[in-house]
Amino acid sequence: MQIAIFGLGYVGLTAAACLAKTGHKVIGIEVSEAKVAELKAGGCPISEPGLHELLREGIANERFDVMQSAGGIINECDMAIVCVGTPSGPDGSHNMTYISEVSRQIAAAISTNRPHPLTVVYRSTIRPGTIEGLVTPIFKAELNGRFSDAVELVYNPEFLREATAIADYFMPPKIVIGTANGEPSRNMDLLYEGIDAPIFYTPYRESEFTKFVDNTWHAVKVAFANEIGRTSVKLGISARKVHEIFVSDTKLNISPYYMRPGGAFGGSCLPKDVRALQYIAADVGAHTVLVDSLLRSNDSHKHFLLEHVTQGIAPGARVLMAGLSFKANSDDLRESANVDLARKLLEAGYRLSVYDPSLVPSKLIGANLGYAYTQLPALNQLFVTRDVAEEETWDLAVDSIGILDTLNIKADRKVSTNALP
Ligand SMILES: NC(=O)c1ccc[n+]([C@@H]2O[C@H](COP(=O)([O-])OP(=O)(O)OC[C@H]3O[C@@H](n4cnc5c(N)ncnc54)[C@H](O)[C@@H]3O)[C@@H](O)[C@H]2O)c1
Repeated sequence: MQIAIFGLGYVGLTAAACLAKTGHKVIGIEVSEAKVAELKAGGCPISEPGLHELLREGIANERFDVMQSAGGIINECDMAIVCVGTPSGPDGSHNMTYISEVSRQIAAAISTNRPHPLTVVYRSTIRPGTIEGLVTPIFKAELNGRFSDAVELVYNPEFLREATAIADYFMPPKIVIGTANGEPSRNMDLLYEGIDAPIFYTPYRESEFTKFVDNTWHAVKVAFANEIGRTSVKLGISARKVHEIFVSDTKLNISPYYMRPGGAFGGSCLPKDVRALQYIAADVGAHTVLVDSLLRSNDSHKHFLLEHVTQGIAPGARVLMAGLSFKANSDDLRESANVDLARKLLEAGYRLSVYDPSLVPSKLIGANLGYAYTQLPALNQLFVTRDVAEEETWDLAVDSIGILDTLNIKADRKVSTNALP
């Protein structure tokens, strides 16, 4: 393909060099006169292992050229890739000036008689809604009714890490491609031909959000590792040994387990031990801000779940909760987030019934019994048998531990707190 790349910073230059290496004809467009002059003179304006060699190779075999403005070349291209910066604005949001500007430039340059639409691929990090709310209107305004014939808009986040950018380009952890309605794109398939990585086609917003989720998760991991590290050091424990043991567990720790958006955490261990670690860390002055925020975050999630399940359902409605214990196949009610949800539903005026195949209220003993009855004094009256749960018609059925599919429940609305949609 013939590809124009707008913005020759870390992302744009790496993409340009790697695409030229793959056999595409690449034209880099960069507003900085100094960068263009340096590249034209055979230099490399950034330090990135292997990049300079690839750029020199691209220039030598005429697969890479650079210019300061797109001029007439856009209509000779199959694809334009946008890699301009999206720096922080004063309020923390991304500054979209360069994205808007470059979009207008590309849209204005598209001629009326293109044989195929130009695939315009955004690789800069942009907030969810940008392609639909900012980029599409710019193209529509400029193209005046020719939008769907003239362009295919794509969002394709970049996952490279500086210092290993070339290797990451050819071996990415995944490829995420946002298109209108998540439809596949022929040109994007051509772009990634020969690269072995899982490909996810999604609608725009999911693809735009992915990048934020990844970067925030990396930040959470660093902050968590350092909080545990400094608590270890303050306790005279080897941070390195603790880390080695922690990351060796790829079943529960470094794994998708405990990572699904759904129920709040609860049960007899997590809240209790998080609280205790907070105490230990505070005692040695380790200031574990992230760990200290976990219980508050969990409480926020419990409030969200109440809003989520009762959306459009007025107080007074008949609600069935399928599951009260903290997870399926357990009768442990201690600090169960589902007990909290049941209490919140009752306090809000819903007429609540509960079915839980693992629970027999008369068999609850000890702390389990205490917690359940403190939170739900009328616990016995809430329970219904499976027969009753299946005979009645409910206004709302809440799948709180992932068992609703195994039951034949009639309800005007069914909603899961176990797994968010
Ligand atoms: N650097 C990374 O490791 C990395 C990784 C993944 C994603 N990203 C994202 O990719 C985007 C680019 O990052 P970067 O680090 O390459 O930025 P950068 O600032 O190094 O490069 C951006 C380039 O775009 C040029 N530019 C601005 N407007 C232009 C226009 N209208 N036409 C042509 N060129 C124009 C600038 O002069 C600059 O050289 C950002 O949104 C960033 O968040 C960066």
